[in-house]
Amino acid sequence: MEGKVINIGILVSGRGSNMEAIIRKVEEGYIKNAKVVVVISSRRDAPALEKARAHGIETLFIDPKDFWKEPDPEKRERLRVEYDKNIIAELEKRNVNLVLLAGYMLKLSPYFIRKYKGRIMNIHPSLLPAFPGLNAQKQALDYGVKYTGCTVHFVDEEVDHGPIILQAVVPVHDDDTVETLSERILKKEHEIYPEAVRLYVEGKLEVLGRKVKIKS
Ligand code: GRF
Repeated sequence: MEGKVINIGILVSGRGSNMEAIIRKVEEGYIKNAKVVVVISSRRDAPALEKARAHGIETLFIDPKDFWKEPDPEKRERLRVEYDKNIIAELEKRNVNLVLLAGYMLKLSPYFIRKYKGRIMNIHPSLLPAFPGLNAQKQALDYGVKYTGCTVHFVDEEVDHGPIILQAVVPVHDDDTVETLSERILKKEHEIYPEAVRLYVEGKLEVLGRKVKIKS
């Protein structure tokens, strides 16, 4: 049965390898009834933009004008919401139903998160709730864990916190550096992020409070 097509918008700030893994799975038909309609970057020079264009996907750079440098917290939040409204306007023009954060380095405003509640996913390079925030791989190495991994989760108003969709475990080796560990985790990221998107598009994810049930 042909379902409705889900329009995907991907927000990026950097390399875009997760973005590309998802685009490939859509192209290959592994993720059916979905289209990546736009890739939006918070950085003009993000390599992700070129990668997306190479797949024929429309790209936009929306300039955040360093709003996070605003010292007054209230004004900073106002600027964040203004910025997010610019993004939302572009998403709405293209009828985006699912927003994917893929190495997107800005914190979304509560305004954005409420507007797309249950329709924003993120990938994080640790087994949440361990090591949220920046440099998760270094945090894992410094802590001395034997296993770490990656997590795809729905986004809520706390950083790296929303209901967990999928996780993958990766061993930490004694001689790992941040680079070798990150590379091992990234391979798993490229598997579980497209998988989570497929499950969403196929209507197989049911969110019950903090828990995400995967329907068969
Ligand atoms: C990934 O490690 C992801 O887990 C984190 O940022 C990195 C983005 O890499 N959120 P890429 O831009 O997808 O290559």
